[in-house]
This record gives sequence, structure tokens and C-alpha cells, in this order.
Amino acid sequence: MNSITVSSLKGELSVPGDKSISHRAIMLGSLANGLTEITNFLDGEDCLSTIRCFKEMGIKITQTKDTVAITGNGLYNLSAPKSTLNVGNSGTTARLLSGILAGQTFESTITGDESIQSRPMKRIIEPLSSMGADIASIYGNDCAPLHIKGSKLTGISYQSPIASAQVKSSILFAGLYADGTTSVTEPYLSRNHSELMLQAFGANVKTENTTITITPSVNELAGQKIKVPGDISSAAYFIAAALIVPNSEIKLCNIGINPTRDGILQICQKMGADIKIENQHTTNGELVADLIVRSSSLTGTTIEGEIIPTLIDEIPIISVLACVANGTTIIKDAAELKVKESNRIDAMVKNLSKMGADITATEDGMIIHGGKPLHGTLIDSKKDHRVAMSCIIASLIADGPTGLSDFSCINISYPNFLNDLSKLHSQ
Ligand code: S3P
Repeated sequence: MNSITVSSLKGELSVPGDKSISHRAIMLGSLANGLTEITNFLDGEDCLSTIRCFKEMGIKITQTKDTVAITGNGLYNLSAPKSTLNVGNSGTTARLLSGILAGQTFESTITGDESIQSRPMKRIIEPLSSMGADIASIYGNDCAPLHIKGSKLTGISYQSPIASAQVKSSILFAGLYADGTTSVTEPYLSRNHSELMLQAFGANVKTENTTITITPSVNELAGQKIKVPGDISSAAYFIAAALIVPNSEIKLCNIGINPTRDGILQICQKMGADIKIENQHTTNGELVADLIVRSSSLTGTTIEGEIIPTLIDEIPIISVLACVANGTTIIKDAAELKVKESNRIDAMVKNLSKMGADITATEDGMIIHGGKPLHGTLIDSKKDHRVAMSCIIASLIADGPTGLSDFSCINISYPNFLNDLSKLHSQ
């Protein structure tokens, strides 16, 4: 059992680079012509999986302490991988890479860890197939491993049943190789990092309401300098910690607050959080700012509808906030949580119940009656990085020691998480 005793959180922190943006920078840098230089790249296991896959397709990628340099050879110069491409735990790599592989002239196979092999891939197999892709789930269960035989693709207009940036991006990346225009319409707008980065690299991408269109009129992408903003999904743990640990005041520097990702800020503010946004600016089309967060008395709220995709990865930590808030929090329209790295509804409900919270799972979310004291217990992370970090934050206000199984999964998105947390409470 471990026990982190904290009386307040103070100080300033820069969290690591955004995971979604880091993946896309590697992918588009590998497909562009010339040098792409990425700073503040997220050196976590998921993004390293993306680097590994592109290296296996002949792309020169070098990593120093501060920079990742990619020498791209253009859209049509990936080489056939000698073995199966292993995406580890990364759904983003699996789905976006499938879109790229669909348009190549070679065959490839993608697989990943146990979690990846149980995550739904039909959501990309169907639209990519209707573009003409030859893509199949090897065991016929609509999951990885996937076999992809590069084919001639044709643009489609796809009405996505879910607001998923992974599905949207997979189709848009395939659209780079298609004849004609490709468009994706989502029920609500999901994170738009692919659109912004494709535009930065010179692609012809347009957004109208929730429809994104790519026209491959520009044949080549051009290498770029990309400065990755701090990941708001990683910042979310410290935002929550500062809100619930008394007498706290922290500054989180250079955080990406793209409006398709800022749902956590909106919901915290609706719950009564004292969060100030300073020094707003734009980098490579992405909105970035510093956040000042102070301990606050929180009230429960309802979270549903179009805000859900803008905070989907933050729901585990929001469920912790809801346990501390006065009153009831209802989270709806979030059934996607069941098919993340783990079933996050189940994982958070089981762990927080065990800590003493009044929290119930529903079909598409949870209901939390806040205000019950939390107690330390043995937490099961389900090998899910976001569950692990959310429960560690809950443990800061729990009485007694908390133990956590399999917390090395934190390395997926935030290898220095515990160090950074200790920086804020040792001030
Ligand atoms: C991501 C999109 C989201 C998110 C995931 C990263 C991306 O997944 O949960 O962590 O980088 O495109 P979905 O597209 O499945 O909603």
C-alpha cells in the first residue's frame, strides 16, 4: 500500500505534450516531403508505438531530448514493413494508421496488446472498405489483428454514427490517397487536430458545421515545425487535484485549450471551479494558454450531448470530482467509455465505490451522489492509464493508504506523472 499525504498543492507545472497531436505530427511528418521537427513531443509509450511503426516502413526518425526530427519522403514512399506493425496499447495508432495503409501499394498487418485486440475496428473497416480498401479482421471478430492490402481508393461521403476523431481521421488520412473528395459528417464535432494539422502541412481540408472534407488537389504535404501544446487530458489530473485538495493554487503552463478538447474546463467552471485562463495564443492553429487553478467548493452537474466528445478522456477524473462535489452529477451519452483502453464506466464505478463513493453505472454513463468521504483501498487500474491516474488523485483526499495494481500503465501517456505530482506538493 502507498500513501501520499498532501496538505496543499502549490507551484507551476508544464505537462507533457498532447498525445493526439504528437501521434498526428509523426504520421503527417512521415508522409510529408522534407524535414518535420517536433518539439514538446509526448515521449509516452503510445506515441513511441507510432514512431516504431513508421520506422518499420523506412522513415528516418531521430529523437533527441528536445526534438523529434522526421525526414519524410512524400505520400508515396513508405516501404512495406518486414513484419507485423505493433501499435501496443494505442487505439489512435491502430485506427489512423489503418487509413494510411489502406492507400499504399503493399500489404501489411497491424496488431497490438490484449486491450487493442478487443477494441472495435468495424467502425473503420466499414468506411475504409466502402472507399475500396481491402481491410479485414484476421480472426473475423472485427478487432485487430487487421490485414490491409493497399488498394486504389475512391472518395466517399461518410455519415459517422459516432463522434470519434479516430474514425474521422482514419477516413481523412485515407482520403489523401483517394480519387475525388472525401467527407465525414459526425453527430457532434470530435477533436479536430487532424484537420488543423493537415491544413498546416498544406492539405486542402474544409470544415462546415460537423462535416469535414478533404480534396487531394495538393499532391504533396510539406514538412513543418510543430510545437506540441501541453496535453489538457494530462493537465486534467492536476486541475482536479488542485480543486479538491484544500488551500491549493497551481499554474499549469502552455496547455492546449482547443475548443474541441476544453469540455473539462467548461464543466469544472459549471461545477463552481476557480480556474483562470491567461496568456492565450495560437501555435500551429492550436489554441494554447496557462491555467491558474485554486481549491474550490464544487456542485454536482449534468454532463451530456455535444460536450461529451470534448471531454471523453476526462470523464474518469470528472467522476472523482463528482464524488467530492455537493449534490448529484449525472453523466449521459458516454457509452464510448466502455470501449476505451478498459471499460472506464465499470472501472471507475468499481474503484470509487470501493473507496466509499455513492456512484452507480448506467447504460451510457454514471450517477454520482457526491459528498461521501473516500477511504484508501486497493485499486485495480485495469491496466488503463487514465483510470490509474484518476484513482491516484482520488487517493490524495482519501483517509488511509491506497494501493494500486499495475500502475506502470501510466507510462502510456504520462511517464513522469508521479514526479510532477510530487513537485506540486513538496513546494
Ligand atoms: C483520440 C480520440 C478519442 C480519444 C483518444 C484519442 C484521437 O477516441 O478518446 O484517447 O487522438 O483521435 P475516439 O475517436 O475513439 O473517440
